[in-house]
Amino acid sequence: MIWSDSSQYPYEEGSLFLGLDENNNEVGIKTERHALTIAGAGAGKGAAVIIPNLLKWPHNALVIDPKGEAAEATAQTRADMGQAVHVVDPFGSSRVDDKFRASYNPLDDLDPDSLTIREDIETIADGIVMRGDAQASHWDDGAQAIISGLIAYVVSLGVPEICNLITVRQFLADEDKLAEAMHEMKNLDACAGLCREAFNAASAQEGRYFVSNAQKNTRWLDSRGMAKALASSSFSLADLKTGRASVYLVLPANYLGQHGRFLRLFVRCGIEAMARKSPAHDLRGQQCLFLLDEFFSLGYIDEIAKAAGLMRGYGLQLWPILQDLGQLITLYGREGSETFFANADVHQFFGNTDQLTLEQISTRVGVTDLSEIPLPPTPPTAPTSGFYQGIGAVASKSKNTSTKVLGAAVGGAMSMTQQIAANRAQQRYQEEMNEYQRDMARHGRPRVAPDEVALLVQKKKDVVADNMICLVYGREPLLIKLAPYFRTGKTVSPEPPRQPFALTVIMWVFITLLSSIAGWIAQMVMPVNFNAAIAFGAIGFLYGLWSYLTRGGVWLE
Ligand SMILES: Nc1ncnc2c1ncn2[C@@H]1O[C@H](COP(=O)(O)OP(=O)(O)OP(=O)(O)O)[C@@H](O)[C@H]1O
Ligand SMILES: [Mg+2]
Repeated sequence: MIWSDSSQYPYEEGSLFLGLDENNNEVGIKTERHALTIAGAGAGKGAAVIIPNLLKWPHNALVIDPKGEAAEATAQTRADMGQAVHVVDPFGSSRVDDKFRASYNPLDDLDPDSLTIREDIETIADGIVMRGDAQASHWDDGAQAIISGLIAYVVSLGVPEICNLITVRQFLADEDKLAEAMHEMKNLDACAGLCREAFNAASAQEGRYFVSNAQKNTRWLDSRGMAKALASSSFSLADLKTGRASVYLVLPANYLGQHGRFLRLFVRCGIEAMARKSPAHDLRGQQCLFLLDEFFSLGYIDEIAKAAGLMRGYGLQLWPILQDLGQLITLYGREGSETFFANADVHQFFGNTDQLTLEQISTRVGVTDLSEIPLPPTPPTAPTSGFYQGIGAVASKSKNTSTKVLGAAVGGAMSMTQQIAANRAQQRYQEEMNEYQRDMARHGRPRVAPDEVALLVQKKKDVVADNMICLVYGREPLLIKLAPYFRTGKTVSPEPPRQPFALTVIMWVFITLLSSIAGWIAQMVMPVNFNAAIAFGAIGFLYGLWSYLTRGGVWLE
């Protein structure tokens, strides 16, 4: 048995929703650890993972929603659950009610007198500097130092109207303004020395490259849409931990490359907001699910690589969604991607077509071990041929000629039937034996080869993939049907196959006749004082009726 019985994991409130079992019952996994989805383009990541989960998930959520479909389909439902819904959509590409539209200025949450001001500013700067190549970390560190210093400088000016990232960008975009600011920052102690460090970085030998890298990483802030979305705040990301909030980040796919830093900034600040202790000094606040579609566009996030295991303690569950395994390896390396798998309780795969991912799924599903191979079939026992010939012999001794003839015919026919049954048993045994040998040959080989995985999870008959393979920590793999949100209501289980009615009638008559003949033989062999042929015939008839009503047909097995 490759797949475990998914009906053992019924969906309950607060579980991560996966899909439907073979009887169309909802399947879910209750866990506080992370999840990971790797699914091909157009396979149903939005319609069958993100949206159904948002419609059910009772706790807080931060969602990367590139096309805005999740916000459109779930914002009102989540608001009805009592959640404060904030849709940050810089380019207005989602069709949501204006009451849900929101803006967020990460600098609003900064307190210059806080003991953690340095860390808080560095988090924002880390959210802005897109890290891809580990080789370039020196240049990225330099750019981050410059941006951190400028944020600290803008905060220290104490003018709420200009205390935002757009002002930081304005300094970077204008050489004269930057020189003036740096001149002041040289002697500024504000924000735990970040201003002075930025000055030092800019004046170092590679300073020009650091500044140029900082300019490159902040160019996206020139966008009017971004400026509007980030200039002021209509909510605080701290609500993800201390309140009841759902935050949607909408950014169309064609802007992902250019404006991926916008998503990175929010995710980075969101993680920080969850990691911070609440005002009552509690490490754990509200449970929050980060549904991170287009995870690749966030670039490498150190915090996720190193502290993913700790996040559970803050009530933070990450659910990164990627198109293929190669994306994860490109960002986090082979070892790093293993850590991702290790930290996630649920690994979900569907619509995969690339060889690397298919091989990975096949490996993770494992190899066939001996316990999965059924025992060999038992050989059929040889028929005891004498009984029916005996009937013929008993009948032949009768004085009644018709009894003699009928007895001989019945005895011969039954003996022939028995021989046919014996041949069929032998044939069945041979087939079972062949199957057993095929099963034995599977021992030690992958339970599902990569090309078989591709067939199972492909998008074939439907608009979404047919099945998903889910690997749940410590359990056997699950094969689950996708449940896209637009297909509401439970689908009815398919009707069991019914026998054609004509065949049913033939079998029914046959069973009745056979029972009647058996009754007649019994009457011949034993003295009974009732008409056994009619009584047995009636039993056969009733069995046929019961069989037809309960199983939709009459089988002779
Ligand atoms: N409301 C709907 N009604 C019918 N079909 C839909 C609906 N929404 C999406 N679909 C179809 O469902 C399929 C999966 O869509 P979905 O957006 O979930 O895919 P995805 O995996 O997120 O794709 P992408 O890689 O483009 O983000 C697509 O074929 C899409 O056309
Ligand atoms: Mg999608």
